[in-house]
Amino acid sequence: MSTITESDESEDAQQYDGSRVYRWLDDRLDLDDEFLGKAFPEDRYASFLLGEVTLFSFVFLVLTGTFLGLLYRPGAADTTYQGIVANYAGTSVPVAFASVMRITYDVPMGMFIRMVHHWGAYLFIAAMGLHMFRVFFSGAYRNPRELNWVVGSTLLFLGLIEGFMGYALPFDEYGSTATGIGFNLAGSIPVIGETLTKIVFGGLWPDNAGAILPRMFFYHTFLIPLVIGGLIAVHMFLLIRQKHTDQESGRDAEADVDASNEGLVTGVPLLPNQAAVMLIVFLSTFAVLSLLAGLFPVQRLPVWGPNDPFSTPAGVAPDWYFMWVFGLLKIIPDFVPLAEFVGGVLLPGVIGGVLVLWPFLDYESDAAHFTADPIKRPVQTAVGVASIVFVIVLSIAAMNGTVAEVTGIPTGEVTSYLLYLTILVPIVWGVITYLVLKRGVERRERNSDAAPTDDDSDTANTAVSDD
Ligand code: HEM
Repeated sequence: MSTITESDESEDAQQYDGSRVYRWLDDRLDLDDEFLGKAFPEDRYASFLLGEVTLFSFVFLVLTGTFLGLLYRPGAADTTYQGIVANYAGTSVPVAFASVMRITYDVPMGMFIRMVHHWGAYLFIAAMGLHMFRVFFSGAYRNPRELNWVVGSTLLFLGLIEGFMGYALPFDEYGSTATGIGFNLAGSIPVIGETLTKIVFGGLWPDNAGAILPRMFFYHTFLIPLVIGGLIAVHMFLLIRQKHTDQESGRDAEADVDASNEGLVTGVPLLPNQAAVMLIVFLSTFAVLSLLAGLFPVQRLPVWGPNDPFSTPAGVAPDWYFMWVFGLLKIIPDFVPLAEFVGGVLLPGVIGGVLVLWPFLDYESDAAHFTADPIKRPVQTAVGVASIVFVIVLSIAAMNGTVAEVTGIPTGEVTSYLLYLTILVPIVWGVITYLVLKRGVERRERNSDAAPTDDDSDTANTAVSDD
Protein backbone atom coordinates (compact mmCIF):
# COMPACT_ATOMS: atom_id res chain seq x y z
CA MET A 1 0.00 0.00 0.00
CA SER A 2 1.51 3.31 -1.00
CA THR A 3 1.00 6.58 0.81
CA ILE A 4 1.40 10.02 -0.66
CA THR A 5 1.12 13.52 0.69
CA GLU A 6 -0.21 16.66 -0.94
CA SER A 7 1.19 19.92 0.22
CA ASP A 8 -0.50 23.33 -0.02
CA GLU A 9 2.16 24.10 -2.60
CA SER A 10 1.16 21.55 -5.19
CA GLU A 11 4.61 21.42 -6.74
CA ASP A 12 5.91 20.26 -3.37
CA ALA A 13 3.72 17.18 -3.51
CA GLN A 14 5.85 14.27 -2.51
CA GLN A 15 5.42 10.58 -2.95
CA TYR A 16 6.41 8.13 -0.28
CA ASP A 17 6.91 4.44 -0.65
CA GLY A 18 5.10 4.30 -4.01
CA SER A 19 4.14 0.99 -5.52
CA ARG A 20 5.97 -0.14 -8.65
CA VAL A 21 2.92 0.46 -10.80
CA TYR A 22 2.64 3.99 -9.40
CA ARG A 23 6.34 4.72 -9.96
CA TRP A 24 6.20 3.32 -13.48
CA LEU A 25 3.21 5.50 -14.39
CA ASP A 26 4.64 8.50 -12.55
CA ASP A 27 7.85 8.35 -14.65
CA ARG A 28 5.75 8.60 -17.79
CA LEU A 29 2.73 10.69 -16.78
CA ASP A 30 4.04 12.90 -13.98
CA LEU A 31 1.31 11.79 -11.60
CA ASP A 32 2.51 14.11 -8.88
CA ASP A 33 0.75 17.02 -10.49
CA GLU A 34 -2.28 18.66 -8.95
CA PHE A 35 -4.88 16.25 -10.31
CA LEU A 36 -3.40 12.80 -10.50
CA GLY A 37 -1.18 13.52 -7.50
CA LYS A 38 -4.24 13.98 -5.32
CA ALA A 39 -4.00 12.21 -1.97
CA PHE A 40 -7.27 10.41 -1.23
CA PRO A 41 -8.46 10.01 2.35
CA GLU A 42 -7.88 6.96 4.44
CA ASP A 43 -9.43 3.85 2.95
CA ARG A 44 -10.82 2.85 6.32
CA TYR A 45 -13.13 5.87 6.50
CA ALA A 46 -15.98 4.47 4.44
CA SER A 47 -18.16 7.56 4.93
CA PHE A 48 -15.76 9.40 2.61
CA LEU A 49 -17.04 7.13 -0.16
CA LEU A 50 -20.61 8.46 0.00
CA GLY A 51 -19.70 11.23 -2.45
CA GLU A 52 -18.53 8.57 -4.88
CA VAL A 53 -21.74 6.55 -4.44
CA THR A 54 -23.65 9.76 -5.30
CA LEU A 55 -21.46 10.32 -8.34
CA PHE A 56 -21.88 6.78 -9.65
CA SER A 57 -25.65 6.83 -9.04
CA PHE A 58 -25.73 9.91 -11.24
CA VAL A 59 -23.75 8.07 -13.93
CA PHE A 60 -26.29 5.20 -13.86
CA LEU A 61 -29.16 7.69 -14.00
CA VAL A 62 -27.70 9.26 -17.14
CA LEU A 63 -27.05 5.88 -18.79
CA THR A 64 -30.48 4.42 -18.06
CA GLY A 65 -32.18 7.78 -18.66
CA THR A 66 -30.67 7.95 -22.15
CA PHE A 67 -32.26 4.60 -22.98
CA LEU A 68 -35.63 5.64 -21.54
CA GLY A 69 -35.48 9.05 -23.26
CA LEU A 70 -35.15 7.40 -26.66
CA LEU A 71 -38.40 5.48 -26.18
CA TYR A 72 -40.50 7.88 -24.09
CA ARG A 73 -43.06 10.11 -25.83
CA PRO A 74 -44.12 13.28 -24.01
CA GLY A 75 -47.78 13.61 -25.03
CA ALA A 76 -51.10 13.98 -23.20
CA ALA A 77 -53.34 13.22 -26.20
CA ASP A 78 -55.17 9.89 -26.19
CA THR A 79 -53.99 6.87 -28.12
CA THR A 80 -55.20 3.28 -28.22
CA TYR A 81 -53.14 1.02 -25.96
CA GLN A 82 -51.70 -1.88 -27.94
CA GLY A 83 -49.25 -3.42 -25.50
CA ILE A 84 -49.34 -6.73 -23.66
CA VAL A 85 -51.05 -5.65 -20.40
CA ALA A 86 -54.47 -7.26 -20.85
CA ASN A 87 -56.36 -4.85 -18.54
CA TYR A 88 -55.64 -1.95 -20.83
CA ALA A 89 -55.92 -3.71 -24.21
CA GLY A 90 -57.78 -1.49 -26.68
CA THR A 91 -58.41 1.30 -24.16
CA SER A 92 -57.65 4.98 -24.72
CA VAL A 93 -54.67 6.17 -22.70
CA PRO A 94 -52.39 9.24 -22.92
CA VAL A 95 -49.43 8.90 -25.28
CA ALA A 96 -46.93 9.38 -22.42
CA PHE A 97 -48.58 6.64 -20.34
CA ALA A 98 -48.65 4.25 -23.30
CA SER A 99 -44.97 4.83 -24.04
CA VAL A 100 -43.87 4.10 -20.45
CA MET A 101 -46.10 0.99 -20.39
CA ARG A 102 -44.40 -0.11 -23.63
CA ILE A 103 -40.92 0.47 -22.19
CA THR A 104 -41.85 -1.49 -19.06
CA TYR A 105 -43.73 -4.47 -20.47
CA ASP A 106 -42.95 -4.76 -24.19
CA VAL A 107 -39.37 -3.64 -24.73
CA PRO A 108 -36.75 -6.32 -23.87
CA MET A 109 -34.86 -5.34 -20.68
CA GLY A 110 -37.12 -2.26 -20.50
CA MET A 111 -38.52 -3.02 -17.03
CA PHE A 112 -35.04 -3.69 -15.62
CA ILE A 113 -33.54 -0.50 -17.07
CA ARG A 114 -36.49 1.58 -15.94
CA MET A 115 -36.24 0.13 -12.44
CA VAL A 116 -32.47 0.78 -12.26
CA HIS A 117 -33.39 4.37 -13.15
CA HIS A 118 -36.10 4.46 -10.46
CA TRP A 119 -33.87 3.04 -7.70
CA GLY A 120 -30.92 5.04 -9.02
CA ALA A 121 -32.88 8.24 -8.36
CA TYR A 122 -33.59 7.11 -4.80
CA LEU A 123 -29.99 6.12 -4.19
CA PHE A 124 -28.74 9.38 -5.74
CA ILE A 125 -30.77 11.50 -3.35
CA ALA A 126 -30.25 9.25 -0.30
CA ALA A 127 -26.47 9.03 -0.85
CA MET A 128 -26.31 12.79 -1.47
CA GLY A 129 -28.16 13.45 1.82
CA LEU A 130 -25.88 11.09 3.76
CA HIS A 131 -22.80 12.60 2.07
CA MET A 132 -24.02 16.04 3.12
CA PHE A 133 -24.37 14.87 6.72
CA ARG A 134 -20.86 13.34 6.61
CA VAL A 135 -19.55 16.72 5.47
CA PHE A 136 -21.66 18.50 8.10
CA PHE A 137 -20.72 16.38 11.11
CA SER A 138 -17.03 16.28 10.20
CA GLY A 139 -16.99 20.08 9.75
CA ALA A 140 -15.68 19.72 6.18
CA TYR A 141 -17.79 22.75 5.13
CA ARG A 142 -15.59 25.16 7.10
CA ASN A 143 -13.18 27.68 5.65
CA PRO A 144 -11.93 27.25 2.88
CA ARG A 145 -14.57 24.77 1.62
CA GLU A 146 -17.65 26.99 2.03
CA LEU A 147 -18.02 27.43 -1.71
CA ASN A 148 -18.03 23.68 -2.28
CA TRP A 149 -20.78 23.36 0.32
CA VAL A 150 -22.82 25.97 -1.59
CA VAL A 151 -22.25 24.08 -4.86
CA GLY A 152 -23.22 20.84 -3.07
CA SER A 153 -26.44 22.22 -1.62
CA THR A 154 -27.37 23.58 -5.07
CA LEU A 155 -26.87 20.04 -6.37
CA LEU A 156 -29.19 18.73 -3.66
CA PHE A 157 -31.85 21.26 -4.66
CA LEU A 158 -31.46 20.37 -8.36
CA GLY A 159 -31.60 16.64 -7.53
CA LEU A 160 -34.96 17.16 -5.81
CA ILE A 161 -36.34 19.19 -8.74
CA GLU A 162 -35.08 16.56 -11.18
CA GLY A 163 -36.92 13.86 -9.20
CA PHE A 164 -40.11 15.94 -9.19
CA MET A 165 -40.03 16.25 -12.99
CA GLY A 166 -39.42 12.53 -13.45
CA TYR A 167 -42.38 11.62 -11.24
CA ALA A 168 -44.71 13.46 -13.61
CA LEU A 169 -43.53 12.04 -16.94
CA PRO A 170 -45.54 8.74 -17.12
CA PHE A 171 -48.73 10.83 -16.64
CA ASP A 172 -50.30 8.11 -14.50
CA GLU A 173 -52.98 8.86 -11.94
CA TYR A 174 -50.71 8.58 -8.89
CA GLY A 175 -47.76 10.54 -10.30
CA SER A 176 -49.92 13.21 -11.86
CA THR A 177 -51.88 13.77 -8.63
CA ALA A 178 -48.62 14.11 -6.68
CA THR A 179 -47.29 16.47 -9.37
CA GLY A 180 -50.45 18.54 -8.94
CA ILE A 181 -49.44 19.21 -5.31
CA GLY A 182 -46.17 20.73 -6.54
CA PHE A 183 -47.94 22.80 -9.17
CA ASN A 184 -50.41 24.14 -6.62
CA LEU A 185 -47.47 25.17 -4.44
CA ALA A 186 -45.77 27.02 -7.28
CA GLY A 187 -49.11 28.68 -8.09
CA SER A 188 -49.58 29.69 -4.44
CA ILE A 189 -46.66 32.15 -4.53
CA PRO A 190 -48.32 35.55 -4.13
CA VAL A 191 -48.45 37.79 -7.20
CA ILE A 192 -46.07 35.83 -9.44
CA GLY A 193 -47.23 32.22 -8.84
CA GLU A 194 -49.54 31.71 -11.79
CA THR A 195 -47.39 33.65 -14.24
CA LEU A 196 -44.34 31.72 -13.07
CA THR A 197 -45.95 28.33 -13.75
CA LYS A 198 -47.08 29.57 -17.17
CA ILE A 199 -43.62 30.83 -18.11
CA VAL A 200 -41.72 27.82 -16.78
CA PHE A 201 -44.19 25.06 -17.75
CA GLY A 202 -46.55 26.58 -20.29
CA GLY A 203 -49.74 26.22 -18.27
CA LEU A 204 -51.56 24.67 -15.32
CA TRP A 205 -51.36 21.01 -14.39
CA PRO A 206 -52.98 18.72 -15.47
CA ASP A 207 -55.24 20.80 -17.78
CA ASN A 208 -52.33 21.91 -19.94
CA ALA A 209 -50.38 18.66 -19.68
CA GLY A 210 -50.09 18.58 -23.48
CA ALA A 211 -47.85 21.65 -23.29
CA ILE A 212 -46.26 20.85 -19.93
CA LEU A 213 -45.07 17.28 -20.56
CA PRO A 214 -42.71 18.18 -23.46
CA ARG A 215 -41.20 20.96 -21.34
CA MET A 216 -40.80 18.69 -18.34
CA PHE A 217 -39.24 16.10 -20.62
CA PHE A 218 -36.74 18.70 -21.84
CA TYR A 219 -35.94 19.89 -18.30
CA HIS A 220 -35.70 16.34 -16.92
CA THR A 221 -33.63 14.72 -19.67
CA PHE A 222 -31.48 17.61 -20.86
CA LEU A 223 -31.38 20.91 -19.03
CA ILE A 224 -31.22 19.85 -15.37
CA PRO A 225 -28.86 16.85 -15.93
CA LEU A 226 -26.60 19.19 -17.90
CA VAL A 227 -26.52 21.73 -15.05
CA ILE A 228 -26.05 18.91 -12.48
CA GLY A 229 -23.19 17.45 -14.57
CA GLY A 230 -21.56 20.89 -14.87
CA LEU A 231 -21.89 21.55 -11.14
CA ILE A 232 -20.48 18.10 -10.30
CA ALA A 233 -17.45 19.05 -12.42
CA VAL A 234 -17.13 22.32 -10.46
CA HIS A 235 -17.57 20.36 -7.20
CA MET A 236 -14.76 17.95 -8.15
CA PHE A 237 -12.54 20.77 -9.39
CA LEU A 238 -12.89 22.59 -6.06
CA LEU A 239 -12.28 19.34 -4.17
CA ILE A 240 -9.04 18.72 -6.04
CA ARG A 241 -7.92 22.37 -5.80
CA GLN A 242 -8.63 22.62 -2.08
CA LYS A 243 -7.77 19.02 -1.22
CA HIS A 244 -9.80 16.72 0.95
CA THR A 245 -10.13 17.40 4.63
CA ASP A 246 -7.64 15.14 6.33
CA GLN A 247 -8.00 12.78 9.26
CA GLU A 248 -5.25 13.92 11.54
CA SER A 249 -2.51 11.34 12.19
CA GLY A 250 -4.14 8.99 9.70
CA ARG A 251 -1.11 7.94 7.71
CA ASP A 252 1.26 10.63 8.87
CA ALA A 253 3.59 8.24 10.65
CA GLU A 254 3.74 6.00 7.60
CA ALA A 255 4.52 8.98 5.38
CA ASP A 256 6.95 10.31 8.00
CA VAL A 257 5.44 13.81 8.08
CA ASP A 258 4.48 16.19 10.88
CA ALA A 259 1.03 15.01 12.05
CA SER A 260 0.02 18.48 13.22
CA ASN A 261 0.72 20.19 9.87
CA GLU A 262 -2.71 20.96 8.37
CA GLY A 263 -1.10 22.04 5.12
CA LEU A 264 -0.09 18.47 4.32
CA VAL A 265 -2.73 15.98 3.26
CA THR A 266 -1.77 12.35 3.64
CA GLY A 267 -3.56 9.61 1.80
CA VAL A 268 -3.45 7.07 -0.96
CA PRO A 269 -2.76 7.97 -4.62
CA LEU A 270 -5.37 7.79 -7.39
CA LEU A 271 -3.34 5.19 -9.22
CA PRO A 272 -3.53 2.39 -8.42
CA ASN A 273 -5.08 2.53 -4.91
CA GLN A 274 -8.03 4.89 -5.14
CA ALA A 275 -8.85 3.79 -8.70
CA ALA A 276 -9.29 0.24 -7.35
CA VAL A 277 -11.51 1.51 -4.52
CA MET A 278 -13.55 3.54 -7.04
CA LEU A 279 -14.02 0.49 -9.25
CA ILE A 280 -15.32 -1.46 -6.26
CA VAL A 281 -17.71 1.38 -5.31
CA PHE A 282 -18.87 1.65 -8.93
CA LEU A 283 -19.55 -2.08 -9.26
CA SER A 284 -21.16 -2.26 -5.80
CA THR A 285 -23.46 0.63 -6.69
CA PHE A 286 -24.47 -1.21 -9.86
CA ALA A 287 -24.94 -4.46 -7.92
CA VAL A 288 -27.19 -2.79 -5.33
CA LEU A 289 -29.25 -1.05 -8.03
CA SER A 290 -29.58 -4.29 -10.02
CA LEU A 291 -30.73 -6.17 -6.93
CA LEU A 292 -33.27 -3.51 -6.04
CA ALA A 293 -34.48 -3.32 -9.66
CA GLY A 294 -34.74 -7.10 -9.92
CA LEU A 295 -36.32 -7.78 -6.54
CA PHE A 296 -38.51 -4.69 -6.11
CA PRO A 297 -39.85 -3.67 -9.53
CA VAL A 298 -42.37 -0.96 -8.66
CA GLN A 299 -45.62 -1.48 -10.62
CA ARG A 300 -47.29 1.90 -10.14
CA LEU A 301 -48.62 2.36 -13.68
CA PRO A 302 -50.92 -0.64 -14.22
CA VAL A 303 -52.17 -0.38 -10.62
CA TRP A 304 -53.16 3.31 -10.72
CA GLY A 305 -53.85 3.63 -14.44
CA PRO A 306 -53.52 6.78 -16.58
CA ASN A 307 -54.25 10.29 -15.35
CA ASP A 308 -57.96 10.82 -14.78
CA PRO A 309 -58.81 14.55 -14.97
CA PHE A 310 -62.08 14.00 -13.08
CA SER A 311 -60.78 12.29 -9.96
CA THR A 312 -58.47 13.11 -7.06
CA PRO A 313 -57.60 9.75 -5.52
CA ALA A 314 -57.00 9.51 -1.79
CA GLY A 315 -53.75 8.23 -0.34
CA VAL A 316 -51.48 9.88 -2.90
CA ALA A 317 -48.18 11.21 -1.54
CA PRO A 318 -45.07 12.71 -3.07
CA ASP A 319 -41.84 10.73 -3.25
CA TRP A 320 -40.20 10.11 0.15
CA TYR A 321 -37.68 12.93 -0.24
CA PHE A 322 -40.54 15.46 -0.46
CA MET A 323 -42.51 13.99 2.45
CA TRP A 324 -41.12 16.59 4.88
CA VAL A 325 -42.58 19.40 2.72
CA PHE A 326 -45.88 17.50 2.55
CA GLY A 327 -45.70 17.22 6.36
CA LEU A 328 -45.27 20.99 6.67
CA LEU A 329 -48.34 21.44 4.48
CA LYS A 330 -50.37 19.06 6.64
CA ILE A 331 -49.50 20.62 10.01
CA ILE A 332 -49.57 24.29 9.10
CA PRO A 333 -52.62 25.66 11.00
CA ASP A 334 -55.49 27.05 8.91
CA PHE A 335 -55.39 30.43 10.65
CA VAL A 336 -51.95 31.14 9.14
CA PRO A 337 -52.47 33.54 6.22
CA LEU A 338 -51.52 32.04 2.83
CA ALA A 339 -51.06 28.68 4.60
CA GLU A 340 -50.25 26.74 1.42
CA PHE A 341 -47.56 29.21 0.39
CA VAL A 342 -46.11 29.47 3.91
CA GLY A 343 -46.01 25.68 4.53
CA GLY A 344 -45.05 24.56 1.05
CA VAL A 345 -42.79 27.32 -0.26
CA LEU A 346 -41.75 29.89 2.35
CA LEU A 347 -40.71 27.54 5.19
CA PRO A 348 -38.91 25.03 2.91
CA GLY A 349 -37.25 28.05 1.25
CA VAL A 350 -36.05 29.39 4.61
CA ILE A 351 -34.80 25.90 5.61
CA GLY A 352 -33.03 25.60 2.23
CA GLY A 353 -31.52 29.07 2.71
CA VAL A 354 -30.14 28.16 6.14
CA LEU A 355 -28.69 24.97 4.64
CA VAL A 356 -26.91 26.80 1.81
CA LEU A 357 -25.62 29.54 4.11
CA TRP A 358 -24.63 27.25 7.01
CA PRO A 359 -20.83 27.63 6.52
CA PHE A 360 -21.30 31.40 6.86
CA LEU A 361 -23.54 31.07 9.91
CA ASP A 362 -20.98 28.80 11.58
CA TYR A 363 -18.12 30.86 10.22
CA GLU A 364 -14.48 30.39 11.10
CA SER A 365 -11.91 32.86 9.88
CA ASP A 366 -9.02 30.38 10.23
CA ALA A 367 -8.73 27.69 7.58
CA ALA A 368 -9.45 24.18 8.90
CA HIS A 369 -8.04 21.24 6.96
CA PHE A 370 -8.45 18.50 9.56
CA THR A 371 -11.81 16.82 9.93
CA ALA A 372 -13.55 17.82 13.13
CA ASP A 373 -14.63 15.32 15.74
CA PRO A 374 -18.45 15.70 16.07
CA ILE A 375 -18.19 14.69 19.72
CA LYS A 376 -16.07 17.77 20.39
CA ARG A 377 -18.53 20.15 18.68
CA PRO A 378 -21.69 20.06 20.83
CA VAL A 379 -23.48 23.00 19.15
CA GLN A 380 -22.98 21.89 15.55
CA THR A 381 -23.67 18.23 16.28
CA ALA A 382 -26.83 19.16 18.21
CA VAL A 383 -28.03 21.26 15.24
CA GLY A 384 -27.33 18.32 12.89
CA VAL A 385 -29.17 15.80 15.10
CA ALA A 386 -32.13 18.17 15.58
CA SER A 387 -32.33 18.72 11.80
CA ILE A 388 -32.42 14.99 11.06
CA VAL A 389 -35.11 14.45 13.70
CA PHE A 390 -37.07 17.44 12.31
CA VAL A 391 -37.14 15.90 8.81
CA ILE A 392 -38.16 12.49 10.22
CA VAL A 393 -40.99 13.90 12.36
CA LEU A 394 -42.26 16.00 9.46
CA SER A 395 -42.24 12.96 7.19
CA ILE A 396 -44.33 11.11 9.77
CA ALA A 397 -46.66 14.14 10.01
CA ALA A 398 -47.15 13.83 6.23
CA MET A 399 -48.87 10.50 6.97
CA ASN A 400 -51.31 12.01 9.47
CA GLY A 401 -54.15 9.87 8.12
CA THR A 402 -52.23 6.65 8.81
CA VAL A 403 -51.16 7.92 12.25
CA ALA A 404 -54.82 8.66 13.02
CA GLU A 405 -55.81 5.14 11.94
CA VAL A 406 -53.07 3.46 13.97
CA THR A 407 -53.66 5.52 17.14
CA GLY A 408 -57.46 5.69 16.84
CA ILE A 409 -57.32 9.47 17.39
CA PRO A 410 -59.37 11.64 14.97
CA THR A 411 -57.26 13.08 12.13
CA GLY A 412 -57.81 16.73 13.16
CA GLU A 413 -56.64 16.06 16.70
CA VAL A 414 -53.68 13.92 15.61
CA THR A 415 -52.57 16.68 13.23
CA SER A 416 -52.45 19.18 16.13
CA TYR A 417 -50.33 16.75 18.17
CA LEU A 418 -48.05 16.27 15.19
CA LEU A 419 -47.60 20.05 14.98
CA TYR A 420 -46.49 20.21 18.64
CA LEU A 421 -44.27 17.15 18.21
CA THR A 422 -42.61 18.70 15.14
CA ILE A 423 -41.61 21.67 17.26
CA LEU A 424 -40.79 19.82 20.48
CA VAL A 425 -39.10 16.55 19.49
CA PRO A 426 -36.20 18.08 17.48
CA ILE A 427 -35.59 20.65 20.24
CA VAL A 428 -35.49 17.92 22.91
CA TRP A 429 -33.08 15.80 20.84
CA GLY A 430 -30.91 18.83 20.09
CA VAL A 431 -30.74 19.88 23.75
CA ILE A 432 -29.97 16.34 24.97
CA THR A 433 -27.23 15.97 22.35
CA TYR A 434 -25.75 19.33 23.32
CA LEU A 435 -25.79 18.66 27.06
CA VAL A 436 -24.31 15.16 26.77
CA LEU A 437 -21.51 16.28 24.46
CA LYS A 438 -20.78 19.43 26.44
CA ARG A 439 -20.37 17.43 29.64
CA GLY A 440 -18.00 15.09 27.82
CA VAL A 441 -15.94 18.01 26.47
CA GLU A 442 -15.76 19.62 29.93
CA ARG A 443 -14.77 16.34 31.55
CA ARG A 444 -12.03 15.84 28.97
CA GLU A 445 -10.77 19.39 29.48
CA ARG A 446 -10.65 18.84 33.25
CA ASN A 447 -8.72 15.58 32.75
CA SER A 448 -6.22 17.21 30.40
CA ASP A 449 -5.72 20.10 32.88
CA ALA A 450 -4.98 17.54 35.55
CA ALA A 451 -2.43 15.81 33.32
CA PRO A 452 -0.54 18.66 31.64
CA THR A 453 2.15 16.42 30.16
CA ASP A 454 -0.36 14.51 28.07
CA ASP A 455 -0.66 17.21 25.43
CA ASP A 456 -0.99 15.20 22.26
CA SER A 457 -4.42 13.68 22.48
CA ASP A 458 -7.15 16.27 23.03
CA THR A 459 -5.46 19.19 21.35
CA ALA A 460 -5.16 17.17 18.17
CA ASN A 461 -7.81 18.98 16.16
CA THR A 462 -6.73 22.43 17.23
CA ALA A 463 -3.29 22.14 15.64
CA VAL A 464 -2.35 25.49 14.13
CA SER A 465 -2.43 25.58 10.35
CA ASP A 466 0.70 26.83 8.66
CA ASP A 467 -1.12 27.96 5.48
C1 HEM B 1 -24.56 15.44 -7.23
C2 HEM B 1 -24.31 15.49 -5.94
C3 HEM B 1 -22.94 15.34 -5.33
C4 HEM B 1 -21.88 14.61 -5.77
C5 HEM B 1 -21.79 13.72 -7.02
C6 HEM B 1 -20.81 14.81 -4.81
C7 HEM B 1 -19.57 14.19 -4.89
C8 HEM B 1 -18.53 14.39 -3.99
C9 HEM B 1 -17.32 13.60 -3.92
C10 HEM B 1 -17.00 12.39 -4.83
C11 HEM B 1 -16.56 14.11 -2.94
C12 HEM B 1 -15.24 13.55 -2.44
C13 HEM B 1 -15.52 12.30 -1.58
C14 HEM B 1 -16.21 12.62 -0.27
O1 HEM B 1 -15.74 13.47 0.49
O2 HEM B 1 -17.26 12.00 -0.03
C15 HEM B 1 -17.25 15.27 -2.38
C16 HEM B 1 -16.76 16.11 -1.39
C17 HEM B 1 -17.46 17.21 -0.85
N1 HEM B 1 -18.82 17.47 -1.01
FE1 HEM B 1 -20.01 16.58 -2.39
N2 HEM B 1 -21.23 15.67 -3.83
C18 HEM B 1 -22.54 16.01 -4.08
C19 HEM B 1 -23.36 16.79 -3.28
C20 HEM B 1 -22.93 17.48 -2.16
C21 HEM B 1 -23.78 18.15 -1.21
C22 HEM B 1 -25.32 18.10 -1.23
C23 HEM B 1 -22.96 18.81 -0.31
C24 HEM B 1 -23.34 19.67 0.86
C25 HEM B 1 -24.42 20.41 0.93
C26 HEM B 1 -21.58 18.52 -0.69
C27 HEM B 1 -20.45 19.04 -0.08
C28 HEM B 1 -19.15 18.56 -0.26
C29 HEM B 1 -17.96 19.08 0.38
C30 HEM B 1 -17.87 20.34 1.30
C31 HEM B 1 -16.90 18.23 0.02
C32 HEM B 1 -15.43 18.32 0.49
C33 HEM B 1 -15.32 17.35 1.66
C34 HEM B 1 -13.92 17.20 2.21
O3 HEM B 1 -13.01 17.90 1.78
O4 HEM B 1 -13.80 16.37 3.13
N3 HEM B 1 -21.61 17.68 -1.77
N4 HEM B 1 -18.47 15.39 -3.03
